[in-house]
Amino acid sequence: MTLDVVVLAAGQGTRMRSDLPKVLHRLAGKPMVRHVLDTARRLEAQRLHVVIGHGAERVREALADYPVSFAVQAEQKGTGHAVAQALEGLGDGRVLVLYGDVPLIRHETLAALMAQVDESRMGLLTVTLDDPSGYGRILRNEAGEVVAIVEQKDAAEHELAIRECNTGIMAMTAAQLKRWLPRLSADNAQGEYYLTDVIAMAAAEGVAIATAQPADALEVEGVNNRVQMARLERAHQARIADALMTQGVALMDPARLDVRGRLRCGHDVEIDVGCVFEGEVELGEGVRIGPHCVIRDSHIGAGTVIEPHSVLEGVVAAGHNRIGPFARLRPGTRLAVGAKVGNFVETKNAEVGEGSKINHLSYVGDARLGQDVNVGAGTITCNYDGARKHVTEIGDAAFIGSNTALVAPVSIGKGATIGAGSTISKDVADHALAVSRGRQISKPDWQRPTKQQDQ
Ligand code: UD1
Ligand code: CA
Repeated sequence: MTLDVVVLAAGQGTRMRSDLPKVLHRLAGKPMVRHVLDTARRLEAQRLHVVIGHGAERVREALADYPVSFAVQAEQKGTGHAVAQALEGLGDGRVLVLYGDVPLIRHETLAALMAQVDESRMGLLTVTLDDPSGYGRILRNEAGEVVAIVEQKDAAEHELAIRECNTGIMAMTAAQLKRWLPRLSADNAQGEYYLTDVIAMAAAEGVAIATAQPADALEVEGVNNRVQMARLERAHQARIADALMTQGVALMDPARLDVRGRLRCGHDVEIDVGCVFEGEVELGEGVRIGPHCVIRDSHIGAGTVIEPHSVLEGVVAAGHNRIGPFARLRPGTRLAVGAKVGNFVETKNAEVGEGSKINHLSYVGDARLGQDVNVGAGTITCNYDGARKHVTEIGDAAFIGSNTALVAPVSIGKGATIGAGSTISKDVADHALAVSRGRQISKPDWQRPTKQQDQ
């Protein structure tokens, strides 16, 4: 049977107190609704539907690159009404209902639920909570079969004592939904069309209701305000940290790590406190990352040490590199084995050859450095003429004296030496010395001017 997934994302999220639609608030750097869709995709659904309402245009935009279709719920008249908006686009197999503000639901949990669903049996994900307040309660008969869901606001005293709750996540056939949804009534405490009322309809028709539970209640927790948002963020990060440690990564403090994307690590990687990893990051065996580094979309080869407060984006470091402290490596930085980029150095679109060093206070952009080059402190590649970018080439074993400006396009030959304080705008031949600075003059026994005595 085919599978359609319907994700409800029309609610306003008033309590976020934000202009951003609730489902676009980010968890681990990614909008909540995208977490849900990524998980849904792993179920190999034929179609994904998102029901939008509040901030519909922004949600559409945020999902423009996704294979989803949208159903608009202009007015929020309840969860049953929301699902009804997607009815037309459904296939003729099974339908799973998910929520754009319940981001941590796991694939395994959904797969276990779906495994029980066919024409004669629908599926309902329930969770047993110490404090069930606010949730719909699961009503079962003496045989233990689910017969209905009653919302908190409609529940009788004895029903409020039930701790088994509705997560809202349920699955059934499209045919059943098409039969049941038009029969919903808004005759209840909230005047809404409750999706939960289909449970009693199923029971009345003799459709069995199979239940499944999440491994962890966090999976089914919804976000209504920023406190819950932050709590889920930390819980999610804690899971990532646990997984990394299980794989053999040493985290100085698992509570002070943020992974916003995917972090893959070899053995014996050490990560100090306060580091943020974004996008796709790979750390080779034995890499050590000092405190407070931000690393995005980079590949850091084995044995590299990144000192504190370094910021890397789009970097490929071949291995055994030393970076920072306070280094900023921008996209297109390629470090060959053993290359060093030290403090207060910025690189961009720069290839740094094996064993070369840019140890202090420099800007190296649009540059290709050979092996064993030494770039002195305060070296600047002047790559931009106000209109275009130009390349600086530096040959193997060249030595660039401190406080040098290399005015690109320019090339420095192998083994060449540049005197400190030079402005180099012409190519320098292999093994040549180039110096371009005012000659020093010295006057012996120089008398500085003195101030006149006041009369
Ligand atoms: C719902 C369930 C309740 C369950 C709880 C779990 C119903 C009637 N109740 O209650 O049994 O325990 O979730 O969190 O289903 N939405 C729309 N359009 C609407 C209404 C809601 O898209 O017209 C979306 C909301 O944005 C939200 C979700 O559906 O993401 C749940 O709606 P909400 O009103 O929060 O339902 P609850 O009252 O929490
Ligand atoms: Ca809710």
